[in-house]
Amino acid sequence: MSSVREAVAALRAGKLVAFPTETVYGLGANAENVHAVRKIFAAKGRPPDHPLIVHVAAAGQIDEWAVSISDDARILAAVAWPGPLTLVLHRHPRIPDVVTGGRPTVGLRVPSHLVAHELLTQFGGGVAAPSANRFGHVSPTCAAHVLADLGDRVDVIVDGGMTDIGVESTIVDVTLDPPMLLRHGAVTVDMITAILGRAPQETAGPSRASGMLASHYAPRCQLVLVDSRAHADSAADGLYGTVDVLAPGDDLSSYARGLYGWLRDADNRGVDTLIVVRPPAVGLGLAIDDRLRKAAANR
Ligand code: TXA
Ligand code: MG
Repeated sequence: MSSVREAVAALRAGKLVAFPTETVYGLGANAENVHAVRKIFAAKGRPPDHPLIVHVAAAGQIDEWAVSISDDARILAAVAWPGPLTLVLHRHPRIPDVVTGGRPTVGLRVPSHLVAHELLTQFGGGVAAPSANRFGHVSPTCAAHVLADLGDRVDVIVDGGMTDIGVESTIVDVTLDPPMLLRHGAVTVDMITAILGRAPQETAGPSRASGMLASHYAPRCQLVLVDSRAHADSAADGLYGTVDVLAPGDDLSSYARGLYGWLRDADNRGVDTLIVVRPPAVGLGLAIDDRLRKAAANR
């Protein structure tokens, strides 16, 4: 485990750095170093057409990384950054193809986590970073998860404890009019609607940003989703193997914060089938339910 200073030196040397954000841990490299960014895809086992988010220190840097920025984009950036929101913008020419999978757009985010903020401020540039897990696995919410997934595939890990939010950032494509919600997160649809004065377009079903799969965020065990604790008990009848029930209750913040750790625990305990009581479909519950549906999708 390393300090921010060591992590900044590693980024400058073209190495991979895992670092905490308020959502999940990221696996970062200098966004302008093609060779370093390629290492991210190799370490994760991620296909090259899945674009990466570029993380920067401050909302004021938006014009250094994007062009033709809409008013909606500027309003969202001003209100929600730093925070768990990724904006898909027209990319600045300084961003190499390897980051965006050749797309004309880039996902940009200003994290609020103090360690991420300090790292980005000291580094000064953009850090391309997906979640710091092997491709298709659940995202890491603590340094031990990063180590379990990536081991020595990552050069430096900065340990900032457990992440506060626990699910990945909200993604909004602000190159479209009205803006389109690509992934639910802690910046909720209601918040976006209040900020913009109109609702974003939504895609039907589990969120599918380009390069996203229906089956993703998945533990090894089979997930069965039910609507209530009572349904969990009847769902357990007739299942073979080790069956466990996850019923986190109605506190959505605790549910989101705990979710990925509980899924990893179930795998570590050798659970074959995990029956999960879904959250209420409001606010952060929409993000949680999106991830649960992807984790439960047939692989
Ligand atoms: O909370 C988060 O967003 C975390 C932390 C580390 O910032 N990052 C994260 O990255 O979840 P990742 O790579 O696991 O998920 C980013 C998603 C990808 O599914 C990708 O499809 C989408 O963002 N994305 C990135 N750039 C995009 C673009 N230009 N257009 C559409 N989707 C994009
Ligand atoms: Mg990910």
